[in-house]
Amino acid sequence: MRDLTPPRESLDPIEIASRDEISALQLERMKWTLRHAYENVPMYRQRFDAAGVHPDDLESLADLAKFPFTYKSDLRDNYPFGLFAVPQDKIARLHASSGTTGKPTVVGYTANDISNWADLVARSMRASGTRPGDKVHVAYGYGLFTGGLGAHYGAERLGCTVIPVSGGMTERQVMLIEDFKPQTIMVTPSYMLNILEQYRKEGRDPRECSLQVGIFGAEPWTNAMRAEVEAAFDMHAVDIYGLSEIMGPGVANECVETKDGLHIWEDHFYPEIINPETGEVCADGEMGELVFTTLTKEGLPMIRYRTRDLTRLLPGTARSMRRMEKITGRSDDMIILRGVNVFPTQIEEQLLKIEGLAPHFQIELHTAGRMDAMRVICEALPHAADDASRAAASKALSKRIKDIVGVSAECVVGTPGSAPRSEGKAKRVVDNRTKD
Ligand code: DLL
Repeated sequence: MRDLTPPRESLDPIEIASRDEISALQLERMKWTLRHAYENVPMYRQRFDAAGVHPDDLESLADLAKFPFTYKSDLRDNYPFGLFAVPQDKIARLHASSGTTGKPTVVGYTANDISNWADLVARSMRASGTRPGDKVHVAYGYGLFTGGLGAHYGAERLGCTVIPVSGGMTERQVMLIEDFKPQTIMVTPSYMLNILEQYRKEGRDPRECSLQVGIFGAEPWTNAMRAEVEAAFDMHAVDIYGLSEIMGPGVANECVETKDGLHIWEDHFYPEIINPETGEVCADGEMGELVFTTLTKEGLPMIRYRTRDLTRLLPGTARSMRRMEKITGRSDDMIILRGVNVFPTQIEEQLLKIEGLAPHFQIELHTAGRMDAMRVICEALPHAADDASRAAASKALSKRIKDIVGVSAECVVGTPGSAPRSEGKAKRVVDNRTKD
């Protein structure tokens, strides 16, 4: 793999500013945000008043802990535009995340918000090793989902040639990569595995393709998966994080030179880690739920938004801004099996250690007798698809999951192509447990 470290002079000065400079900017912007929210969004005014706090009470960054949290349900309760802080004619764009049930979560951006977003995705792409002039294949979905258009505007802002493919039609994805020869691909990691599979089906060597960088996000993925994809394509695989409520992709991104967790773009987003049960703020280095306060958002300022994503904060390395460790999972995706907490990423890690297994999988929960039980549905690679190899892989995976994760799982190793595939975010857990 080529060294794609961006030249230091190409970085935004704030990326490598001193911590004091970053904190001073954050404090100034946080004061503005609290006032903007309080003056323009009735829900924030009511919440602050009820908690007995006022924007003037913020004198230091730590004072933020006095302010109430905001939850996903608040966006639902104020559907569709109730939390917007500017008149509707100042909203330049709407996006929405598809709720699994009921109404979607709607977010709105002013022209400035869209421009900041483009800057931050451009910054993320540069950190990933993409350079101005590169061709960028965007296979995140276009539409109300923030992935496609977020990536698109960022790639344009960086000065790249954008190829707006969107998700799906995997054969065509491969054809376009082969014919247009992009250096960068932006896609969910699970869909990248489908593209890889298509390469192999066509008898093509993915290591020969033009791709040098994959910018993968929108769902949890492990360092084991990074190793798998980097080896298969001979390219860098870098993690991008974001969520619609805060902006979309580009809230945090790994640096290609270190790949040691995601630098949070702290000039625009203030992170906290809290204990999800008590709401107490945790010290840097402790695991907990990630909470964000936007610092520049005009259309939809978010104060202490509970992401439900679990991670910890680490000091800066390649940049001065703090890092978050790769997301372990969402608290909603945490499986509690006979008292043991299990995340799909832990299963992914073990599965990738078994020779002969493909990286596609889904976890099914069901009730066996009166107990909860877990089944891992995965599949063999073509060269190991005979009955004996599949039985051996199933046994080996069950043993690893028992020994390392600490739970019993039945592992069903099917024939190649039998495990569910995704064209965007993978659905890792299917819950078929009987509810009382
Ligand atoms: O998934 C935005 C995005 C698009 C990020 C493309 C990166 C690339 P939502 O649909 O609102 O927005 O989903 C946000 O997805 O709270 C996490 O649970 C999860 N997520 C996003 N990026 C990562 C990541 C987009 N890199 C939710 N690692 C978040 C783990 C991620 N989980």
